[in-house]
Amino acid sequence: MSTPHIAAERGDFAPDVLLPGDPLRARWIAETFLEQAHEVTAVRNMLGYTGWYGGRAVSVMGTGMGMASMALYATELITEFGCRRLIRVGSCGALQAEVELRSVVLAVGACTDSNINRQRFAGFDFAATAHASLLAAGLAAAAAAATTVHAGNVFSTDLFYPPVLGQKPSELYGPAIEMGVLAVEMEAAALYAVAAQHRAEALALCVVSDHLVRGGHLSAEERQEGFGDMVVLALDVLQRAGER
Ligand code: HPA
Repeated sequence: MSTPHIAAERGDFAPDVLLPGDPLRARWIAETFLEQAHEVTAVRNMLGYTGWYGGRAVSVMGTGMGMASMALYATELITEFGCRRLIRVGSCGALQAEVELRSVVLAVGACTDSNINRQRFAGFDFAATAHASLLAAGLAAAAAAATTVHAGNVFSTDLFYPPVLGQKPSELYGPAIEMGVLAVEMEAAALYAVAAQHRAEALALCVVSDHLVRGGHLSAEERQEGFGDMVVLALDVLQRAGER
Protein backbone atom coordinates (compact mmCIF):
# COMPACT_ATOMS: atom_id res chain seq x y z
CA MET A 1 0.00 0.00 0.00
CA SER A 2 1.70 3.16 -1.15
CA THR A 3 0.75 6.80 -0.81
CA PRO A 4 1.76 9.55 -3.25
CA HIS A 5 4.94 10.20 -1.25
CA ILE A 6 5.73 7.00 0.67
CA ALA A 7 6.22 3.56 -0.93
CA ALA A 8 5.84 1.12 1.97
CA GLU A 9 3.47 -1.42 3.51
CA ARG A 10 1.41 -0.52 6.56
CA GLY A 11 3.50 -2.55 9.03
CA ASP A 12 6.77 -1.10 7.75
CA PHE A 13 6.71 1.92 10.09
CA ALA A 14 6.81 1.78 13.88
CA PRO A 15 4.26 3.79 15.92
CA ASP A 16 7.24 5.88 17.13
CA VAL A 17 9.01 8.00 14.51
CA LEU A 18 11.77 10.60 14.48
CA LEU A 19 11.48 13.28 11.79
CA PRO A 20 14.62 15.13 10.69
CA GLY A 21 14.23 17.56 7.78
CA ASP A 22 17.19 16.14 5.87
CA PRO A 23 16.75 12.60 4.49
CA LEU A 24 20.50 11.97 4.77
CA ARG A 25 20.18 12.77 8.47
CA ALA A 26 17.45 10.12 8.60
CA ARG A 27 19.92 7.62 7.15
CA TRP A 28 22.64 8.74 9.57
CA ILE A 29 20.29 8.37 12.57
CA ALA A 30 19.23 4.89 11.41
CA GLU A 31 22.82 3.75 10.87
CA THR A 32 24.21 5.35 14.03
CA PHE A 33 21.53 4.81 16.68
CA LEU A 34 19.17 2.03 15.57
CA GLU A 35 19.76 -1.72 15.55
CA GLN A 36 18.78 -3.78 12.50
CA ALA A 37 17.70 -0.64 10.66
CA HIS A 38 16.43 -1.15 7.14
CA GLU A 39 15.14 1.25 4.51
CA VAL A 40 11.34 1.27 4.15
CA THR A 41 10.80 4.07 1.61
CA ALA A 42 12.83 6.24 -0.75
CA VAL A 43 10.30 8.10 -2.92
CA ARG A 44 11.96 11.33 -4.16
CA ASN A 45 14.96 10.28 -2.04
CA MET A 46 12.95 11.13 1.10
CA LEU A 47 14.47 8.22 2.99
CA GLY A 48 12.65 6.32 5.74
CA TYR A 49 14.00 3.54 7.97
CA THR A 50 12.77 1.26 10.73
CA GLY A 51 14.96 -0.38 13.37
CA TRP A 52 15.17 -0.98 17.10
CA TYR A 53 16.24 1.14 20.06
CA GLY A 54 16.18 -0.10 23.65
CA GLY A 55 13.93 -3.02 22.73
CA ARG A 56 11.33 -0.83 20.96
CA ALA A 57 10.72 -0.45 17.24
CA VAL A 58 11.50 3.08 16.03
CA SER A 59 11.26 4.62 12.56
CA VAL A 60 13.03 7.66 11.22
CA MET A 61 12.08 9.58 8.11
CA GLY A 62 13.05 12.86 6.43
CA THR A 63 10.34 15.48 6.01
CA GLY A 64 12.03 18.04 3.77
CA MET A 65 12.02 21.72 4.65
CA GLY A 66 9.01 23.86 5.38
CA MET A 67 5.47 23.32 6.60
CA ALA A 68 3.97 22.18 3.28
CA SER A 69 6.45 19.33 3.10
CA MET A 70 6.17 18.44 6.81
CA ALA A 71 2.36 18.43 6.62
CA LEU A 72 2.16 15.93 3.80
CA TYR A 73 4.64 13.44 5.29
CA ALA A 74 3.15 13.72 8.79
CA THR A 75 -0.37 13.23 7.41
CA GLU A 76 0.56 10.10 5.45
CA LEU A 77 2.63 8.62 8.30
CA ILE A 78 -0.25 9.03 10.75
CA THR A 79 -3.25 8.21 8.59
CA GLU A 80 -1.80 5.48 6.34
CA PHE A 81 1.12 3.97 8.23
CA GLY A 82 -0.09 4.01 11.83
CA CYS A 83 2.54 6.36 13.29
CA ARG A 84 1.34 7.61 16.69
CA ARG A 85 4.27 9.46 18.28
CA LEU A 86 6.16 11.86 16.04
CA ILE A 87 9.21 13.79 17.17
CA ARG A 88 10.75 16.39 14.89
CA VAL A 89 14.52 16.55 15.34
CA GLY A 90 15.63 19.72 13.60
CA SER A 91 17.65 22.88 13.89
CA CYS A 92 16.64 26.44 14.73
CA GLY A 93 17.91 29.99 15.00
CA ALA A 94 17.89 31.46 18.52
CA LEU A 95 15.86 34.62 19.16
CA GLN A 96 16.70 35.17 22.83
CA ALA A 97 20.17 36.08 24.13
CA GLU A 98 20.13 33.37 26.80
CA VAL A 99 19.41 30.57 24.32
CA GLU A 100 22.96 29.46 23.52
CA LEU A 101 24.29 27.84 20.38
CA ARG A 102 24.15 24.01 20.64
CA SER A 103 21.46 24.02 23.30
CA VAL A 104 18.17 22.31 22.43
CA VAL A 105 14.83 24.11 22.16
CA LEU A 106 11.82 22.04 23.15
CA ALA A 107 8.82 23.59 21.38
CA VAL A 108 5.98 23.77 23.90
CA GLY A 109 4.06 25.80 21.34
CA ALA A 110 4.62 26.99 17.78
CA CYS A 111 3.61 30.46 16.53
CA THR A 112 3.66 30.93 12.77
CA ASP A 113 3.55 33.46 9.94
CA SER A 114 2.06 30.75 7.75
CA ASN A 115 -1.57 30.53 6.70
CA ILE A 116 -1.68 26.75 6.70
CA ASN A 117 -3.14 26.24 10.16
CA ARG A 118 -5.80 28.86 9.47
CA GLN A 119 -6.78 26.89 6.38
CA ARG A 120 -7.08 23.82 8.60
CA PHE A 121 -9.00 25.71 11.31
CA ALA A 122 -11.61 27.64 9.29
CA GLY A 123 -9.74 30.96 9.51
CA PHE A 124 -9.30 30.93 13.29
CA ASP A 125 -5.94 30.88 15.11
CA PHE A 126 -5.08 27.35 16.18
CA ALA A 127 -2.84 27.10 19.26
CA ALA A 128 -0.27 24.63 17.91
CA THR A 129 1.12 22.84 20.95
CA ALA A 130 3.17 19.78 21.76
CA HIS A 131 1.18 16.79 22.99
CA ALA A 132 1.01 16.82 26.80
CA SER A 133 2.39 13.32 27.35
CA LEU A 134 5.32 13.76 24.97
CA LEU A 135 5.97 17.17 26.49
CA ALA A 136 6.06 15.65 30.00
CA ALA A 137 8.41 12.91 28.75
CA GLY A 138 10.50 15.58 27.02
CA LEU A 139 10.87 17.65 30.17
CA ALA A 140 11.79 14.54 32.20
CA ALA A 141 14.34 13.44 29.60
CA ALA A 142 15.77 16.97 29.49
CA ALA A 143 16.22 17.02 33.28
CA ALA A 144 18.20 13.77 33.06
CA ALA A 145 20.32 14.81 30.05
CA ALA A 146 23.62 16.69 29.95
CA THR A 147 22.31 18.88 27.12
CA THR A 148 20.89 22.29 28.04
CA VAL A 149 17.22 22.43 27.06
CA HIS A 150 15.05 25.55 26.79
CA ALA A 151 11.28 24.94 26.76
CA GLY A 152 8.89 27.50 25.30
CA ASN A 153 7.47 28.92 22.09
CA VAL A 154 9.10 28.64 18.70
CA PHE A 155 8.23 30.59 15.55
CA SER A 156 7.60 28.43 12.48
CA THR A 157 8.27 30.54 9.41
CA ASP A 158 7.45 29.90 5.77
CA LEU A 159 10.47 31.85 4.49
CA PHE A 160 14.07 31.19 5.51
CA TYR A 161 15.22 34.41 3.85
CA PRO A 162 13.54 37.65 4.98
CA PRO A 163 11.13 38.72 2.19
CA VAL A 164 11.82 42.46 2.51
CA LEU A 165 15.07 43.60 0.87
CA GLY A 166 17.62 44.82 3.38
CA GLN A 167 15.57 43.70 6.37
CA LYS A 168 17.64 42.17 9.15
CA PRO A 169 16.35 38.98 10.80
CA SER A 170 16.34 40.78 14.16
CA GLU A 171 13.93 43.37 12.67
CA LEU A 172 11.76 40.76 11.01
CA TYR A 173 11.48 38.71 14.18
CA GLY A 174 11.14 41.75 16.47
CA PRO A 175 7.60 40.91 17.64
CA ALA A 176 8.59 37.29 18.30
CA ILE A 177 11.64 38.43 20.28
CA GLU A 178 9.41 40.85 22.22
CA MET A 179 6.98 38.02 23.05
CA GLY A 180 9.75 35.79 24.40
CA VAL A 181 9.69 33.29 21.53
CA LEU A 182 12.84 31.21 21.89
CA ALA A 183 13.77 30.37 18.31
CA VAL A 184 12.75 30.29 14.67
CA GLU A 185 12.42 27.13 12.61
CA MET A 186 10.21 25.98 9.74
CA GLU A 187 8.08 22.92 10.56
CA ALA A 188 6.75 22.61 14.13
CA ALA A 189 3.43 24.48 13.72
CA ALA A 190 2.37 22.22 10.85
CA LEU A 191 3.43 19.03 12.63
CA TYR A 192 1.46 19.99 15.75
CA ALA A 193 -1.71 20.82 13.82
CA VAL A 194 -1.63 17.66 11.70
CA ALA A 195 -1.04 15.53 14.81
CA ALA A 196 -3.88 17.26 16.68
CA GLN A 197 -6.32 16.73 13.82
CA HIS A 198 -5.55 13.02 13.67
CA ARG A 199 -5.18 12.49 17.45
CA ALA A 200 -1.52 11.60 17.27
CA GLU A 201 1.20 12.84 19.64
CA ALA A 202 3.87 15.26 18.43
CA LEU A 203 6.86 17.11 19.82
CA ALA A 204 9.54 19.24 18.15
CA LEU A 205 13.13 19.38 19.40
CA CYS A 206 15.56 21.72 17.65
CA VAL A 207 19.26 22.20 18.22
CA VAL A 208 20.31 25.86 18.05
CA SER A 209 22.49 26.06 14.94
CA ASP A 210 22.63 29.84 14.61
CA HIS A 211 21.92 32.91 16.70
CA LEU A 212 19.82 35.66 15.14
CA VAL A 213 20.29 38.15 18.00
CA ARG A 214 23.87 37.59 19.14
CA GLY A 215 25.16 36.38 15.77
CA GLY A 216 27.27 33.27 15.21
CA HIS A 217 26.60 29.75 14.09
CA LEU A 218 27.82 26.22 14.72
CA SER A 219 30.56 24.73 12.57
CA ALA A 220 29.59 21.65 10.54
CA GLU A 221 31.28 19.44 13.15
CA GLU A 222 29.55 21.12 16.12
CA ARG A 223 26.26 20.88 14.29
CA GLN A 224 26.65 17.13 13.82
CA GLU A 225 27.64 16.59 17.47
CA GLY A 226 24.80 18.74 18.79
CA PHE A 227 22.37 17.00 16.50
CA GLY A 228 23.53 13.59 17.73
CA ASP A 229 23.04 14.58 21.37
CA MET A 230 19.55 15.77 20.55
CA VAL A 231 18.71 12.50 18.78
CA VAL A 232 19.73 10.57 21.92
CA LEU A 233 17.44 12.88 23.90
CA ALA A 234 14.57 12.29 21.45
CA LEU A 235 15.02 8.51 21.64
CA ASP A 236 14.92 8.79 25.44
CA VAL A 237 11.67 10.77 25.15
CA LEU A 238 10.13 7.96 23.08
CA GLN A 239 11.27 5.35 25.62
CA ARG A 240 9.79 7.31 28.51
CA ALA A 241 6.55 8.01 26.66
CA GLY A 242 6.24 4.33 25.73
CA GLU A 243 6.59 3.26 29.35
CA ARG A 244 3.72 5.39 30.56
N1 HPA B 1 15.42 30.48 10.17
C1 HPA B 1 14.57 29.47 9.94
N2 HPA B 1 14.87 28.23 10.21
C2 HPA B 1 16.06 27.96 10.76
C3 HPA B 1 16.97 28.96 11.02
C4 HPA B 1 16.63 30.30 10.71
O1 HPA B 1 17.40 31.23 10.91
N3 HPA B 1 18.08 28.39 11.54
C5 HPA B 1 17.83 27.07 11.61
N4 HPA B 1 16.61 26.80 11.14
